[in-house]
Amino acid sequence: MDQAADIAGQIKQAAAALKAGGLVILPTETVYGLAADAADARAVAAVYAAKGRPSFNPLIAHVADVAMARRIARFDARAEQLAARFWPGPLTLVLPVADEVAVCDLARAGLDSVAVRSPAHPLAHALIEAFGGPLVAPSANRSGRPSPTTVADAIDETGAAAAFALDGGPCAIGLESTVVALLDEARLLRPGAVTRAQIEALIGPLSEAQADARRSPGRLARHYAPNLPLRLNVTEPRANEVWLGFGSIRWAGDGAEPFNLSRDGDLAEAAANLFAYLRAADRSGAAGIAVAPIPDTGLGEAINDRLRRAAGYVG
Ligand code: TXA
Ligand code: MG
Repeated sequence: MDQAADIAGQIKQAAAALKAGGLVILPTETVYGLAADAADARAVAAVYAAKGRPSFNPLIAHVADVAMARRIARFDARAEQLAARFWPGPLTLVLPVADEVAVCDLARAGLDSVAVRSPAHPLAHALIEAFGGPLVAPSANRSGRPSPTTVADAIDETGAAAAFALDGGPCAIGLESTVVALLDEARLLRPGAVTRAQIEALIGPLSEAQADARRSPGRLARHYAPNLPLRLNVTEPRANEVWLGFGSIRWAGDGAEPFNLSRDGDLAEAAANLFAYLRAADRSGAAGIAVAPIPDTGLGEAINDRLRRAAGYVG
């Protein structure tokens, strides 16, 4: 069987599994997701159960394109501009909901808003097209754990609940999408690969997310956490720690430097490696993880956000 036919067959099988109310492990350019029919409350409930989310935290509805998004959410001028510039891609827009059936109450955690994103990964796009409607797809990790960036890590986390897994290779970006709410003032709910500066260049200044955690539950402390304790901004790791280096800051320990998020100091490379390295560090037998300082500019804002949450520093 040639590969193209094989991929078409897999998309068909995955779409059929979704139609039957099953869950599918789905590659995206950010992280792997655990996908379900956004309209099917039973399937959505199975996603929450598979992740072990302590409370219902609203999910992102993944769409094939702006046309599909406009059927479920109300777009204002800012949303149109952002979607035109950054979709398909790692940007999620929180907008007033337009169709409460296509994205069921449970998927929205009962809110009158809906999060929408059009992923750039060709397999994600093909699956949404084949399915013919929006798919919820939270990161495929169990709640509070690092997001999976390979199909093997996704299967490790929530594979037992999935009817099918699509292998799209390692995720190019490695951090979850940027989330921007456009309900009143534009607010940055979660930094990501589409940077604050890129968004502000298009729609003007972003306000800070409101402290109310129920409106952006993904901002809870101790999110994305590895099993081991994590220390940040460390230039001299302890003997029993795994050190995640960055750039040219040198490893002071004996022997070879174990991990470097990016020897060239490339933030995109560091983002792509981050969650896989946290998992590898967990498996290493060390007593803790120490991470080198990462600059807070551009994509560094998203990396530092995930690191602070993983370390439990953010309230
Ligand atoms: O990159 C991504 O966005 C990945 C891939 C698989 O697409 N998905 C992902 O989903 O990260 P999840 O469920 O792990 O994160 C969704 C975030 C959460 O922080 C959630 O609180 C927020 O989006 N969110 C969803 N709907 C919302 C809403 N109506 N209002 C405010 N925040 C919302
Ligand atoms: Mg997540």
